[in-house]
Amino acid sequence: MHESTQDLQVIILAAGQGTRMKSALPKVLHTVGSKPMLAHVIDAAHGLNAKAIHVVYGHGGKAVMQRLNHQAVNWVLQEAQLGTGHAVAQAMPSLADEQIALVLYGDVPLIRRETLEKLVNIAGTRGLGLLTANLANPGGYGRIVRDEGGTVIRIVEEKDATEAQRDIKEINTGMLAVNSSLLRHWLSRLDDNNAQGEYYLTDIIGMAAEDGVTIETCHPASLHEIEGVNNKVQLAEIERVYQREQAGQLMLQGVTFMDPNRFDLRGELIVGQDVVIDVNVIIEGRVELGDNVHIGANSVLIDAIIGDDVSIKPNCIVESSTVARGAEIGPFARVRPETLLGENVKVGNFVEIKKSTVAKGSKINHLSYIGDTVMGENVNIGAGTITCNYDGANKHNTVIGDNAFIGSDTQLVAPVEIGAGATIGAGSTITHDASPGKLTLSRSTQKTRDGWKRPVKNLVGKES
Ligand code: UD1
Ligand code: CA
Repeated sequence: MHESTQDLQVIILAAGQGTRMKSALPKVLHTVGSKPMLAHVIDAAHGLNAKAIHVVYGHGGKAVMQRLNHQAVNWVLQEAQLGTGHAVAQAMPSLADEQIALVLYGDVPLIRRETLEKLVNIAGTRGLGLLTANLANPGGYGRIVRDEGGTVIRIVEEKDATEAQRDIKEINTGMLAVNSSLLRHWLSRLDDNNAQGEYYLTDIIGMAAEDGVTIETCHPASLHEIEGVNNKVQLAEIERVYQREQAGQLMLQGVTFMDPNRFDLRGELIVGQDVVIDVNVIIEGRVELGDNVHIGANSVLIDAIIGDDVSIKPNCIVESSTVARGAEIGPFARVRPETLLGENVKVGNFVEIKKSTVAKGSKINHLSYIGDTVMGENVNIGAGTITCNYDGANKHNTVIGDNAFIGSDTQLVAPVEIGAGATIGAGSTITHDASPGKLTLSRSTQKTRDGWKRPVKNLVGKES
């Protein structure tokens, strides 16, 4: 354990082009759980209370900075990608002496804070810490070369390795922690006399060994932490790993998943007790679920606050809305932004609600559109009710008082107000305010014609 007052300076390498992604988007902006890979790494660095985070960017740098401009990081340009050593060197003018420099990769998104803490600790104040792993198939990675005593003496890149060195199973993950003054000194001595004609950061390991600096190694808790993303196949694999990890954390908080492999969290989910989530549920943005919430299959919740005992049946979408205790939604309901559903409200199938408040106990059970509406308590909305809130130019409000009863297939042409306790006859088009407590309807009189006959098909000339 190091107990110094040295500050931690994180350097994240993110200048690689990522050609194999076959995308116009810079590699590090491709997302895992809707968050750019680079943002995952920045967050891990923040978790370490890093004094500063330096991101070395190159290809598509403008897009990277624009997408992550809310992040408090020092952006460092690496104009030409001359190797990992050259990349780190670009950040060095921003680092003071006698700090701890921690090098991370912007395309290795699942690295965990705990692992990095370990790495920083083994580096100590004057040593060098390397994050390594033992792989059955080490192909492509730099290999950790040790002497007979087991001391690390250098790293050799695969392309520069001898046959014997290629048999080494211990690989360099690329992540390391080291004293910034030593790092600066070694970087100044790098050259590009190697198989790839690059300035290898890994060459500082041999220099450290020669200088008698202690080199310690540690391993990640999981190999997924060190997996880099170079193509869409690897991106999809990392996404699944990440999603399964999130589901795992939620299960430890008490959530029941019908199948944790069929769950996607693209943001933040806060849960109460005894939450049950059925398959193929997608959570986006920031969502809060109270106690005893049940989310049915194929539902999508975006930036929503869901109270205790709420049941969301299959195939619903709830976005930027608040749902109070005991409400029931769906199946097949769409709750659009700025909606507030009160306690025990029921919203049934094929109902769309937008920017509306529905007070407690009200029911909108079938096939309705409610927009820009303030609805009182215990209102019953019949099937096929439509608030006509848009006149082609402006939106208008509908107000429905407590205990009103709207008959089926009614159009409420806004702006309009339905009084408390009013009853609207089925099939009405309501264009004027309806008085409280009274029956209002607009419906043509029903007629029956005696002696009327159904037309019959004219068959003249058609028979053979
Ligand atoms: C590097 C290591 C290797 C290690 C492997 C782990 C070196 C010389 N080799 O090899 O030992 O096993 O990572 O994946 O360090 N980058 C820049 N600027 C550059 C070059 C690279 O920002 O000029 C960034 C890349 O975007 C990437 C990271 O550095 O995020 C690693 O670069 P990459 O070319 O993938 O290194 P490897 O050859 O895989
Ligand atoms: Ca690589």
